[in-house]
Amino acid sequence: MPSPVGAVVHPNPYPYYAAMVAERPFHFDEQLDTWVAASAAAAQAVLAAPGCRVRPPHEPVPQGITGTPAGDVFGNLVRMTDGEPQHRLKAIVTQTLGAIDRSAVAATAMQRARQVLNDSVRTPYEQLMFELPAQVVATLCGLDPAAGGEATRLVGHFVQCIPATASPEQQQRAAQAAAGLQELLGPKLDDTQHGLLGELVRMATHVGWTDRAPLLANGIGFLSQTYDATAALMGNTLLALSQQECELPTSEMALQRFVREVIRHDAPIQNTRRFTATPIRHGDVEVPAGQAVLVLLAAANRDPAANPDPHMFRADRTTPNVFTFSAGAHHCPGETLAVTIVTTVVEQLLRVGFDPAKLSTRVTYRPSPNARIPVLTE
Ligand code: HEM
Repeated sequence: MPSPVGAVVHPNPYPYYAAMVAERPFHFDEQLDTWVAASAAAAQAVLAAPGCRVRPPHEPVPQGITGTPAGDVFGNLVRMTDGEPQHRLKAIVTQTLGAIDRSAVAATAMQRARQVLNDSVRTPYEQLMFELPAQVVATLCGLDPAAGGEATRLVGHFVQCIPATASPEQQQRAAQAAAGLQELLGPKLDDTQHGLLGELVRMATHVGWTDRAPLLANGIGFLSQTYDATAALMGNTLLALSQQECELPTSEMALQRFVREVIRHDAPIQNTRRFTATPIRHGDVEVPAGQAVLVLLAAANRDPAANPDPHMFRADRTTPNVFTFSAGAHHCPGETLAVTIVTTVVEQLLRVGFDPAKLSTRVTYRPSPNARIPVLTE
């Protein structure tokens, strides 16, 4: 039996999640010393609760990176902060990502996918899942291919400092990587005519925001937020193509609907955490201040109260209730970007004759406390 965290990398955590939704929708897990919100209603309530924070109030930045470039970036990310400045900065970040030209993203992703596939004899899964999406975002940020490659390498190190389980070595490498990313991306803030970071500065100036460090940090955040989550979505989409007994989607629209159902059915990000600064209540459960809450986004997606036939993979769902991109103040603003990159890359793969049936059915997952990233082999 997996634990709520072990479920992330379990071959099939969904019966376990379903039992939890039915029997213990919001409960305290003694072993993890955390509350667990599994049902859609509990997840919704926790994500909307004003008393919940994204970091423990006594440790806004993990101790091991405090005072380092990684700590400076981490402590300025909208993802890792709450309150009024976060609220203002989040609006700037959301508007910037919302203004991205979807067709330009698709064109960049297609060009890179073709290049990667042309240069490879076997399907380079890791390169397609991790490097390609980060490279696309680096290009959008105005980096040339060489600098984009370096940024992609560095972001792979930076994200290692984010889980609470990060080792001192990982934190040290992340600190060096953050410094490298600041150096690469900093100058792009000054180019307000081109690129995502210039757009970020333009949006910020428009609302009177002048502090540069949080803008640079969230520019780096564009790369780090893309990295694991988009890799997981691409991997889980390829797996779903190999497992679902339906015809392969042929049109871009059909493929996009398929990807969106993967997002609900086999969530790339399976959970997120909150910390109570003041007591919160859901139904007859009261969580005191100073507690941790694990929100099982992947379980909530499959709550029958949220979606009919929740365990069925049905790409024709019209308005599914999906928790994968979170909800409330921290709702992910990168959904369109991620879906566009993944749809484009998978479309290119299918176009060059990729046969999902070739994928091994013995799937393992990369160690992670929240991202469900399959290790794909043939
Ligand atoms: C499949 C891909 C992705 C998934 C599943 C995903 C999921 C999430 C989730 C669950 C959160 C909120 C966590 C919480 O509430 O605690 C989040 C936040 C965020 N994501 Fe994504 N994300 C993805 C891709 C992206 C991309 C491509 C970008 C942009 C480049 C992005 C930018 C962000 C940002 C800026 C936040 C912070 C929002 C905030 O805390 O206010 N994400 N994402």
